[in-house]
Amino acid sequence: MKKELKALLDLTKYLDITIYNRKKNSNALEKRKINMNNAVQNLVPFVKWVGGKRQLLPELIQRVPSEYGTYFEPFLGGGAMLFELKPEKAVVNDLNPQLINCYLQIKEKPLQFLEALKILQNEYNKSNNPDEQTKFYLSVREDFNTAIQNHTSTPKTAAMTVFLNKAGFNGLYRVSQKGKYNVPSAHKKKINCCNRDNILGISELLQNVELLNCDFEACCKDARKGDFVFFDSPYHNTFSSYQDSGFTEEDHIRLSKLVKKISKKGVKFILTNSNSNLIMKLYKDFRIDEIDVKRYINCDASNRVGKEIIVQNF
Ligand SMILES: C[S@@+](CC[C@H](N)C(=O)[O-])C[C@H]1O[C@@H](n2cnc3c(N)ncnc32)[C@H](O)[C@@H]1O
Repeated sequence: MKKELKALLDLTKYLDITIYNRKKNSNALEKRKINMNNAVQNLVPFVKWVGGKRQLLPELIQRVPSEYGTYFEPFLGGGAMLFELKPEKAVVNDLNPQLINCYLQIKEKPLQFLEALKILQNEYNKSNNPDEQTKFYLSVREDFNTAIQNHTSTPKTAAMTVFLNKAGFNGLYRVSQKGKYNVPSAHKKKINCCNRDNILGISELLQNVELLNCDFEACCKDARKGDFVFFDSPYHNTFSSYQDSGFTEEDHIRLSKLVKKISKKGVKFILTNSNSNLIMKLYKDFRIDEIDVKRYINCDASNRVGKEIIVQNF
């Protein structure tokens, strides 16, 4: 980037711009405040999440409607799409309570979250001894399990979630039948999970975002004509142990019914999934595009390139 342009962009970070829009068929003015730091900054997911959409993002972004009311994302995961779109008004959700606690803490107490995360990262990185690092990882995992059992939702619990995600195996979130988080350490030499500017930018973005921790149907109950929903459920017939119960065929059928219902109301949607027979059948009445992608979590190397589909109703 040219030096002058970079200097200009750096300066705009300190600006708040107020835009007045005249409402359709009326003289009333609608006031909208835009923080330029938020608008300019490139935000990225703070966790590595199975099914993360960064790879498919360019395909998705070009399909997003140019105008919409409220943005809904019922299967938020790492939030790549939310961070790319930076909607003015949004309702986002995930069934995973620990993941949603991270978003909540980053929204409300970003500095305490950053401080707690920095302590964990420094403690892990200060040792060059792999055994010591694994021991530390396991001690954090134990504290995290105690926090889950006690339903403790603090900046520290959120920091432990992010630390375990970054130092653990491949962005997995896996719990045992007894509800204990049991992902092994990835034995990394160093971890870097504490990007302060990114976290503060996300915190600012989240000020306009309602965060929910419920089933996808409840998240979409207020979607109205003109709103836009991005559905990125766990895929059918691929790795889907996001929760101990998994996402069943009944869930896929339930999702397709919801999609049809909101579509009739005039809500626009984009949905991603695998191109299995069931999914192709469930969405046969909509536009379906097939896309080639690499799948990273699959033990069988020959199965690492699969077809994903993007379904939309506009
Ligand atoms: C494919 S991931 C989303 C990936 C995300 N778009 C990203 O870029 O990281 C699916 C998410 O759905 C969540 N989930 C699973 N079952 C759910 C349900 N019934 N309702 C809401 N969320 C659910 C999982 O916890 C997981 O985070």
